[in-house]
Amino acid sequence: MLKKTAIVSLFTLISASYMAQNTKTIPVYLDESKPVEQRIQDALSKMTLEEKIAMLHAQSKFSSPGVPRLGIPEFWTTDGPHGVRSEVKWDEWDQAGWTNDSIIAYPALTALSATWNKNMSWNYGKALGEEARYRKKDILLGPGVNIYRTPLNGRNFEYMGEDPFLTSKMVVPYIKGVQSNGVATSVKHYALNNQEMFRHTSNVIIDDRTLYEIYLPPFKAAVTEGDSWTIMGAYDMYKGQYASQNQYLLNDILKKEWNYKGVVVSDWGAVNNTEQAIHNGLDLEFGSWTNGLSDGHSNAYDNYYLAQPYLKLIKEGKVGTKELDDKVTRLLRLAYKTTMNRNKPFGNIASEEHKAVAREIGEEGIVLLKNQSNVLPIDINKAKKIAVIGENAIKIMTVGGGSSSLKVKYETLPLDGIKARFGKQADVQYARGYVGDIGGEYNGVKSGQNLKEDRSPEALLEEAVALAKSSDYVIFVGGLNKADFQDSEGNDRKSYGLPYNQDQVISALAKANKNLAVVLVSGNAVAMPWVKEVPTIVQAWYLGSEAGNSLAAVLAGDANPSGKLPFTFPVKLEDNAAHQMGEYPGNKEELAAGKGKDQKNPINIKYNEGIFVGYRWHDTKKIKPLFSFGHGLSYTTFEFGKAKADKKTMSQDDKITFTVTVKNTGKKAGAEVAQLYITDLKSSVQRPAKELKGFEKVFLNPGEEKEVTFTIDKTALSFFDADKHDWVAEPGDFEALIGNSSDAIKTKVKFTLK
Ligand code: BGC
Repeated sequence: MLKKTAIVSLFTLISASYMAQNTKTIPVYLDESKPVEQRIQDALSKMTLEEKIAMLHAQSKFSSPGVPRLGIPEFWTTDGPHGVRSEVKWDEWDQAGWTNDSIIAYPALTALSATWNKNMSWNYGKALGEEARYRKKDILLGPGVNIYRTPLNGRNFEYMGEDPFLTSKMVVPYIKGVQSNGVATSVKHYALNNQEMFRHTSNVIIDDRTLYEIYLPPFKAAVTEGDSWTIMGAYDMYKGQYASQNQYLLNDILKKEWNYKGVVVSDWGAVNNTEQAIHNGLDLEFGSWTNGLSDGHSNAYDNYYLAQPYLKLIKEGKVGTKELDDKVTRLLRLAYKTTMNRNKPFGNIASEEHKAVAREIGEEGIVLLKNQSNVLPIDINKAKKIAVIGENAIKIMTVGGGSSSLKVKYETLPLDGIKARFGKQADVQYARGYVGDIGGEYNGVKSGQNLKEDRSPEALLEEAVALAKSSDYVIFVGGLNKADFQDSEGNDRKSYGLPYNQDQVISALAKANKNLAVVLVSGNAVAMPWVKEVPTIVQAWYLGSEAGNSLAAVLAGDANPSGKLPFTFPVKLEDNAAHQMGEYPGNKEELAAGKGKDQKNPINIKYNEGIFVGYRWHDTKKIKPLFSFGHGLSYTTFEFGKAKADKKTMSQDDKITFTVTVKNTGKKAGAEVAQLYITDLKSSVQRPAKELKGFEKVFLNPGEEKEVTFTIDKTALSFFDADKHDWVAEPGDFEALIGNSSDAIKTKVKFTLK
């Protein structure tokens, strides 16, 4: 050991003195014997200006260079949040055509969030990180935590819903799970990328209180509690600066206020100004001259904003090297955690454990929205014939939707899952019912399905109704899909209603058979004009490789549903705050004047609704939702006892604990999510009717009762005071509300803050 250190330092000395004269012939070794921060400084001191610049930007679509001369490896990134993306060519978006890059697709993040189970989040991250590691990836481009502001946002399926507290709590274990593999997460898209329309050409106008209370908390939790080693800047502008080169978001908030020591990665093609990229907190530039998804210039890397243009400014003496060294230091720190981490595991792919993780998260994330006259679970003794109707029962959903599109080892379709579960005892028959999207290709990955259908809509409907009439149960599987203008990156949905005439099909099925369950596969809320006609509704999200099996387990009652909505389903679009109060897709006059078409004419989007997002809006304004945030039924029943507090009065540096019992009063084992909301009974500023500040998922056998405790401090009572630029908890009376949905409060307890 001693000997090695001595040799190393000898080389260090030699290299330090000769490097300036002749870097080509002197071998240079990194001194591996010191603590990491010293090793970083050691490496930095041995790098040439050109090597430092090279590290700051891509060398291919998904990789950036290391320092070959020093043996510092390249960084390999990959999308994304739901599974490891397939390999594309070095410099093109086309598929590389490898045969060893198919993986397990995990449920979309909306589904993960709907489990309201932090352990599921850790399992998800751990398994996904293992696959990323096995595929030799160093940076996973996810998870996404942009807040659900409008149901039209095409990318909501990749995010975790409308509530900053739920999202924050769910994202942290995911990050830790992934990073336990020596693979960095890149929490995205920081910040204010809450819609796809105009994502490259808009400027968000938002007040500080809303920014800090609603849109920043998940990012803050991701970096301060989750310690995400990288973070991805967004495409949109804030205060007139693009988010990936933004003084306010990156320098002032992320790096100063939150003391972030990690790496800021640009979104693909989100950089467009060298000076801003240098000075405003960006560390690693990707995808310049691409739209992030498909188009891209070839071999543009030397022209990247943080490439030759940066070097030129330094050589001309127009900028110093302080920022450069800071960026490289961060990248080297990242290298020691990922590429140069000697203790990282090897990872594995598509293990039985991974499949089980995907299936279990799917089962726990599925939300039973309505179940009148207990249509579900399907009674196998009565189910001689089961009709499965709807395109989403047979459509592959892992292909499509933008950068989160995957090349999977397999995807169990709902129809196949249902057949596998019920096919032995019952006759399972299928009818299409309607035709939606027959496409099945994204970026060269093909689903291999032929969904072409020549029959008329009338003929399809007629066939479906006839099948429904002759069956004991009808399972309609519809919703949205991953085609453009549905749940898909790059565009928003055009309307809130279900597409492809599904409303008419559902109403006709409801008339044909009273044992109807409507299963919605989507990442977004949809209008349900037929809600009263249909006894049973299931929200089934995009569940990845195990989709059909997870769904069948819930339909059969093998898994008792325990998912809860991570966002509100409004009755109609106008009931949503962003559509009633705020601007969407942008300022009306500017929209009419054609703004937003290109980066020279960006459009403003003002978040006039402020902090009143989702249930904060519905509950405060008493606008009844179709289904509320936190809602989800079970095949058993639960009872909440009376909530108690351990004190009546708390001081500013005190804590208070609430306890409540939850009892399974039904006949099936199941899980309930106890949700704690806080109300400020009197405040000098306007506050939402209530805000989520705690949740716990409790698993209970029939008759079993458990006590749930929630301990909070003044952070749960605070609002962000923009003038003071600080959080304030105003003395006075508060109320703790505990229930199993934002609109189903079962017990309350008052307390006072001194
Ligand atoms: C998306 C990112 C993604 C990146 C790389 C961008 O278009 O916004 O979420 O990680 O492309 O594929």
